Amino acid sequence: MPSPIFLLAIESSCDETSAAVSRDDSILSNLIATQKIHETFGGVVPELASRAHQLNILPIVSEALRVAKVKKNDLHGIAFTRGPGLMGSLMVGASFAKSLAASFSIPLIEVNHMHAHVLAHFIRNEEKEVPPFPFLCLTVSGGHTQIVLVHAPDNLEIIGETLDDAAGEAFDKTAKILGLPYPGGPLIDRHAEHGKPFAFHFKSPHAPGLHFSFSGLKTSIMYFIRDGLKADPDFINKNIADICASVQHTIVHYLMDKLIQASDKYHIKHIAIAGGVSANSGLRNALQELAKQKNWTIYIPPFEYCTDNAGMIAIAGYYKYLNRNFSDLSIAPLAGLPFVS
Ligand code: KG4
Ligand code: ZN
Repeated sequence: MPSPIFLLAIESSCDETSAAVSRDDSILSNLIATQKIHETFGGVVPELASRAHQLNILPIVSEALRVAKVKKNDLHGIAFTRGPGLMGSLMVGASFAKSLAASFSIPLIEVNHMHAHVLAHFIRNEEKEVPPFPFLCLTVSGGHTQIVLVHAPDNLEIIGETLDDAAGEAFDKTAKILGLPYPGGPLIDRHAEHGKPFAFHFKSPHAPGLHFSFSGLKTSIMYFIRDGLKADPDFINKNIADICASVQHTIVHYLMDKLIQASDKYHIKHIAIAGGVSANSGLRNALQELAKQKNWTIYIPPFEYCTDNAGMIAIAGYYKYLNRNFSDLSIAPLAGLPFVS
């Protein structure tokens, strides 16, 4: 086993082209090219995303190596996101990673994007404790909402997940209804800061056990806004802060309620959050409050490792490298890559 291990990681599952270079469990560079092109469409346009990845990937990989001060010849492996994600987007990253691994004659390492969100907690950070096993992780992103029971870096089990929309989608679709650009989650967060969380009441969604459902909430927000606009065409402008605060409160309260149930059921008090929505200030505050009440030890990722980034692909790749769990060059990306593959 070489020491230290240098990896190049590539993430291209959705609308972020990202490349990172790692030295063991430390991230030396983590660069992200966010595609602005989707803003006005209210969501990611797959064809445009693939094209943007194609344009971004070479410069972002070169820059990641330059910032890390690591030469191509020093790399021990190439990690890439195999899925889940948008097929065209994944193909760009996978093809690039495969070509590099073949031309440098170094191992190729496939990474599951959802595992990587969780494993981002193991990126070395002198100021942070890493969660001990087993712990629970609420992974909330644009495409997924999962409660994961983490036994080990290579043993992750879903104990609850969404039956329809993801939490991030609930934020983004609300934003779209309010006329805010994509991705709307961060904008709702910003407006919510100035609003009252109990100004408007939305019925908490319902799903059995530790599962989630968000599609009903989206519909009730749509009707609420339609009725508000009928009574006053300026309804959104006048109430945007209160609407955002109330929607955010409903989503966060629902997520926290399921997390409490999971903690009680599995008797685990080490609780982590991950994924894009874990950047939400309402969610972070609610978790901190709960930690005090329930005597939980909580793990909140730094902002740069919440939303999609290649740093998390690098750390997931590092653990696979340690197990010499490499991929064949014939491997293909999978849009619906299962959690356990
Ligand atoms: O993990 P991620 O970058 O991509 C996926 O794997 O889907 O998550 C993106 C999602 C989007 O829905 C975005 O609106 C949401 O994370 N998001 C937020 C915040 N920052 C990002 N949602 C609420 N509040 C935020 N501050
Ligand atoms: Zn993600």
